This record gives sequence, structure tokens and C-alpha cells, in this order.
Amino acid sequence: MRSTVLRSAPFPQRAFFFAHNPTLLMLHIFPDAAAIAEHVSTTLIEKISIKPEIVLGLATGGTMEPIYARFVEKALRRRLDVSALTSFNLDEYVGLSAGHPKSYCAYMRQHLFQHLDFDASRLYLPDGLAHDLDRHSQEYSTKMQQCGGIDLQLLGVGANGHIGFNEPGTPFDSCCHVVQLSDRTRMDNSRFFEGNAIVPASAITMGMSEIMRAREILLVATGEGKAEIMAEWYASEVTEAIPFTVLKRHARVKILLDEAAASLLPGSLRESLMVAAA
Ligand code: F6R
Repeated sequence: MRSTVLRSAPFPQRAFFFAHNPTLLMLHIFPDAAAIAEHVSTTLIEKISIKPEIVLGLATGGTMEPIYARFVEKALRRRLDVSALTSFNLDEYVGLSAGHPKSYCAYMRQHLFQHLDFDASRLYLPDGLAHDLDRHSQEYSTKMQQCGGIDLQLLGVGANGHIGFNEPGTPFDSCCHVVQLSDRTRMDNSRFFEGNAIVPASAITMGMSEIMRAREILLVATGEGKAEIMAEWYASEVTEAIPFTVLKRHARVKILLDEAAASLLPGSLRESLMVAAA
């Protein structure tokens, strides 16, 4: 397996340049999704080893699949103890039970939870069948606070810039809430609902304010389908119209892109941020 090194790090004049442009400091470009999976899985293992009772914020979706697969491989090989960690997932579809094969709960079992010795009582997802969804959302927020908040939040990003299921226009001060999914999001996610299954119209999502309260954030975007929104993110001011622009205000965030997702960023920028395969 190839390891990665940050090629831009050794040049002091670049460090100076970056220090005056925090947006650039956040971006890291890797050759491909496998290189990102390598990097993120190593980060997770290091963080869990240092703080076994870490609170993780977890995402689902296609972007996370290679990351969880690589993490599971390495964690098994190292016999990493994950039994003390707590996790909160970002979101769940309304109307799908935890046992439904298309629920995010089933996704987490399939890609992560069933493979390692987690303590199931510490793995939290919103309940898509909650009787009172608003009350459940508040309780989910409260539970996160009681557990001390999120230490490390993993994020993917929607092609419309959503994080969690916070669609464009969601207030930055929102807490966990029920959201009507946009047509674009439902269309993008229909690839996970083969056959006649219909993507649910609504979901429960962690809010923007809870995401921003995470002490550290890693956002991953891979594939050419994310290139346009990444270019918009780069060029844009912080705006609720592109939810993940708010990350420009977070003190400890890294945005990890593969070359395809970075392909519409300015060329000189791409070169300077490339993480070389060693
Ligand atoms: C999933 C989530 C979403 C996804 C985003 C990207 O829990 O919160 O924000 O991260 O929709 O999805 P993929 O990775 O399938 O492109």
C-alpha cells in the first residue's frame, strides 16, 4: 500500500502564503479515493488509540464506503479496541426502520459496526420511525451534548453543497431537525434504492450548529460529480445557499479531495495542494 506525504509542507514561502489564506490551508488533494481512505483510516486509528473514549460523528454515502472498508481492515489487523468509543450518525431517513435494508442504520452495520467489537449501546443514529420526530430530534441533540460533543466529525458533501442533510438555505444556527429532502438529493441518492423503491422525502439530520461545534472536522469529496460544487465552494463567500461554505469559519477542518473532485479548481492551486503518492 502506498503511503502519502504532503508535498507542499517543506516550502516556507508557501507556508507563509497559506498562513494568510485559511481557506487554502484546509484543502488537500490526493491522487484518488483509495489514497484518501488510507489517510482517513490512519487518522481514525491514531485518534482512537490516543483517546479510546473518543466521540465520533459519522457519515454514510458512497464517499465513506472505501474509508470504512480500509479502516476495518487496519483495525482488525491491529486489534484496535473500539469498545469505548461513542458515535453519532449525521442523519437517517424518516419512515425507514433501523432494520430496513436502505436505512442508514443498515448501512452502518454493513460497512462498519458489524465488523468490529463496538459497544452497541454507544452507537447512536436518529430513529426514522420516532413517533414525535421534533421531540426525538431535540433528544438526539441533548444526547450529543451529554456525551461531551463530537471530537471528530466525518463529512461527505452533496452535489448541492449539503452536509448531513442540511439542504441549501438551512440556517447556520439550526440544531438537529427534520428536513424535506431536495429533488436533487433524492435523485442523487436514488442509486442506493434500486428497483421500485422510492427515496424517502424527508430525513432527520444533525443541524449546522452541531456540526460546527465538532472540535475537528474532516470533509471528503471524491469523483467528478463533486467538482462543480467544490469550485463553487472555493469561489464563494460563506453563505447558507451553499451549506458547507460555513466550514471556512471552523478552526480545525480539513477538506480532502481526490483529483477528480478538485478538477475544476484553479490549476495553479491544484498543483500546490497536491498530496504526492510516495
Ligand atoms: C450522509 C450524509 C450526506 C452525504 C452526501 C454525499 O450521512 O450526511 O451529507 O455525505 O450526500 O453522499 P455521497 O457520499 O453518497 O456522495
